[in-house]
Amino acid sequence: MGEKVILTGAGGFVGGIIFSRGSDRFELHGISSKTQPMGIESDFWHTMNLQENFSRLEKFMQETRPGSLIHAAAMADIDACEKDPELAWRINVELTEKLVHLCETCQCRLVYLSTDTVFDGEQGGYREHDSPSPVNFYGKTKQAAEQIVSGSKIPWAIARLCLVMGFSTRGEGNSFLDKMESALHSGREVGCPDNEIRSPIDVQTLAEAILELAGNDLTGIFHLAGTEKLTRYEMGQRIAARLGYDPALVVVKNADAIPGRAPRPRDVSLNQDWTRSQLTTRFKGIEEGIDYLLQLRTH
Ligand SMILES: NC(=O)c1ccc[n+]([C@@H]2O[C@H](COP(=O)([O-])OP(=O)(O)OC[C@H]3O[C@@H](n4cnc5c(N)ncnc54)[C@H](OP(=O)(O)O)[C@@H]3O)[C@@H](O)[C@H]2O)c1
Repeated sequence: MGEKVILTGAGGFVGGIIFSRGSDRFELHGISSKTQPMGIESDFWHTMNLQENFSRLEKFMQETRPGSLIHAAAMADIDACEKDPELAWRINVELTEKLVHLCETCQCRLVYLSTDTVFDGEQGGYREHDSPSPVNFYGKTKQAAEQIVSGSKIPWAIARLCLVMGFSTRGEGNSFLDKMESALHSGREVGCPDNEIRSPIDVQTLAEAILELAGNDLTGIFHLAGTEKLTRYEMGQRIAARLGYDPALVVVKNADAIPGRAPRPRDVSLNQDWTRSQLTTRFKGIEEGIDYLLQLRTH
């Protein structure tokens, strides 16, 4: 059994894949508000509500003494954060701050999952040291949390994720690909913006990079992205084609005018030259990423 690692948000889209990939390498303890998913039998799944009962995690961490904590729990829905900023701040900033203090007490490394949305999108090709300037409240909460993590006394790594492509383990959570595939499967059109440029990464490669960060001792900000930069519309067409659907089902739909929708940055593609020089995980383009997802798909 490997080093002990704790993972928050194990029941979420990204956390679920990290949990399923990490158990070979680490004694990986998943923390979730949800009960253990069907098909996963693990003594290392811990159902607890971090908002209501943080002291349970404190006690567990003090007993377990993990080497690293991967913090994947967050309010990750951009529009929900804009609608309820107080809740978003409590979950994304205050919970992260509590975890930082807990890691300081337990002398535990922290891998914090952040986002490309900390940037304003005016420039694109952002490097790890470029200054964040978020355009929506979700981005503001993630920037504030980054500052708390990077100002802490523990060994830390901030993993900035770009748009994540993948099939979730539970068929729920923040995966756009699950929703897109379900629409394509029933012959419905899928609207994608052609004014939002991203550098998407497949969730399996992403999980490998995050687990690599949990197991090494590198400190700093890391850009976890795919090797291509493209509009969400082009991405949608190429994904549809690779999954065997008619790319014509993917149509341009710019959502800027939808009432209540939070502003989105235009181009938050990430440059990852430095990150690639530090990690052994090999990052992929769209088609290779989709093929990898299909190869490892469990449902
Ligand atoms: N998906 C993307 O494209 C993307 C892109 C950039 C960055 N990210 C970042 O990646 C991380 C994971 O996001 P995701 O896409 O996996 O989102 P997700 O599917 O919504 O999962 C987030 C998880 O956070 C936990 N959570 C939510 N509200 C909570 C609360 N009030 N108290 C405690 N825990 C709570 C839940 O974990 P349990 O279900 O286990 O309780 C939830 O499943 C986030 O930090 C997000 O900002 C994601």
